Amino acid sequence: MDWGLKNRIARIISPADNRALMLAVDHGYFLGPTEKLEDLKKTIASLAKHCDSLMITRGALRTSVNPDYAVPIVLRVSGGTSIIGEDLSQEDITVSIKDALRLNVAAVAMSVFVGSKYEYQTIVNLGKLVNEAEEYGIPVLAVTAVGKEIGTKDARYLSLACRVAAEQGAHIVKTYYCENFEKVVNSCPVPIIIAGGKKIPENDALKLTYDALKAGAVGVDMGRNIWQSDNPVAMIKAVHSIVHGSNNAEQAFTLYKQLSGKPNNNNPNQKPNNNNPNQKPNNNNPNQKPQQ
Ligand code: 5RP
Repeated sequence: MDWGLKNRIARIISPADNRALMLAVDHGYFLGPTEKLEDLKKTIASLAKHCDSLMITRGALRTSVNPDYAVPIVLRVSGGTSIIGEDLSQEDITVSIKDALRLNVAAVAMSVFVGSKYEYQTIVNLGKLVNEAEEYGIPVLAVTAVGKEIGTKDARYLSLACRVAAEQGAHIVKTYYCENFEKVVNSCPVPIIIAGGKKIPENDALKLTYDALKAGAVGVDMGRNIWQSDNPVAMIKAVHSIVHGSNNAEQAFTLYKQLSGKPNNNNPNQKPNNNNPNQKPNNNNPNQKPQQ
């Protein structure tokens, strides 16, 4: 693997613990002004310092992210459909590698819709994107998109979709958590991160995070379950305490409640672990340079 590619991946998946906390704010590319993401600038300003990388579109990046921030960018380069259109799977590549380079991205990301009407188009596009991105040492994150069918896909489907993406050369694959998630992780030769999916209660989202990591995922690319939370900063810190710390789901939820100023009525003896040996220096300051 070329130095530049390795270096960019290291900005996304921390070499210190082989874990990744990516904050997803790219939803507008097909959902428009998603609830609680209407004011992108404000949401990003409060959360960017707590994540390792930010998944975003170029329009949102240029309009809503301070270029002084050192947060590594995972640029969504696919699109072409909207939630009110006929078929979400008919995506194409919408951003050139030249523009991605101009934006100094750490990676590019696109969706593949395995098993859909437009699977051929999206899988071939993934191969083409890898061809182009590899020339410049840019890693490709493949998103195994399920359109409107979230929650209906099982380990058999997701392991197939992840494997197809990895075989096309994706360097990291994002997928959804499911039962028997080990099957998905064990049959995918590249690191897997999980999306959070639709908003669920905070304790459930933290359990999802913990279970996915326990099954072998290297981290999360989480959106709605962070910024649609009543306390997004508390939530991202709680997720961080699992991804880069040693908290289990319960401890992380206790931390979430403490940070939200809510009484801990779950288990009075359960102490959250707020000490994190792997805490990276850039996690508190968006202007600080990322650890190489
Ligand atoms: C949209 C995406 C999102 O980035 C992804 O779904 C992660 O966000 P969430 O945790 O809200 O599911 O790729 O297609």
